[in-house]
Amino acid sequence: MLNYAHRGASAYRPENTLAAFDRAADLGAQYVELDVQRTADGVLVVLHDDTLLRTTNAASAFPDRPSWTVADFTVAELQTLDAGSWFDIRYGGEPIPTLAEVLDLLRRRDLGLLLEAKSPDKFPGIATQIADELLTQRWMFRAGAARLVVESFDADFIREFRTVLPRVTLGLLGSPEIAQLESWSRVADQINPHHLGLTQDYVDAIHEHGMTVNPWTADDPADIARLTALGVEGIITNTPDRI
Ligand code: G3P
Ligand code: CA
Repeated sequence: MLNYAHRGASAYRPENTLAAFDRAADLGAQYVELDVQRTADGVLVVLHDDTLLRTTNAASAFPDRPSWTVADFTVAELQTLDAGSWFDIRYGGEPIPTLAEVLDLLRRRDLGLLLEAKSPDKFPGIATQIADELLTQRWMFRAGAARLVVESFDADFIREFRTVLPRVTLGLLGSPEIAQLESWSRVADQINPHHLGLTQDYVDAIHEHGMTVNPWTADDPADIARLTALGVEGIITNTPDRI
């Protein structure tokens, strides 16, 4: 069973921060899941929401901005923000990391990466940009050592990424109809659905088409046990210590 720490060990540390990814390694995760977006000046950064309001102090730090959309801020502006205090004052000052900073941590902690391209339709060219940045990390591509999965809800992005980096493991997020699984099996290696309502028939159908199943986001031990009994290959969780 693969243990994917969702936004890092996000039950215990502020999501999508270096602190959360570091803790995921301590708690036995094999992979960290994270969300990639792009700044106004073209840098790949790690943050879930398309605005900064929920997880940073952007509204008080930049009160005069017309909006707090991530893509309207430069990386220098983002790096002045506090992405930790909203979760717990103990993590005050924890920054929004760049993808490059996270990749460096993953190499040091021997963690794999489940990279979600978040709303890639808003960021023209982001498939190639993500690929170029990943290719700087040769350790991720070592033969026999699967250290990288790229996933998205965006079907067009998955199809494009398949042509950009053909040998990287690709996951489609969501639950396509069983009738569509055959065609998806020509593009994707994983189908990663929400865990609620996942059935044995659906898991079996994905397996019959040669793909793996890695549902999200299961933290409750009863849910984890149910998914294990269904035969999923991995679980995306905020609590990697429970897998
Ligand atoms: O990796 C799957 C999961 O992260 C998708 O949902 O909203 O947490 O990005 P979300
Ligand atoms: Ca995600």
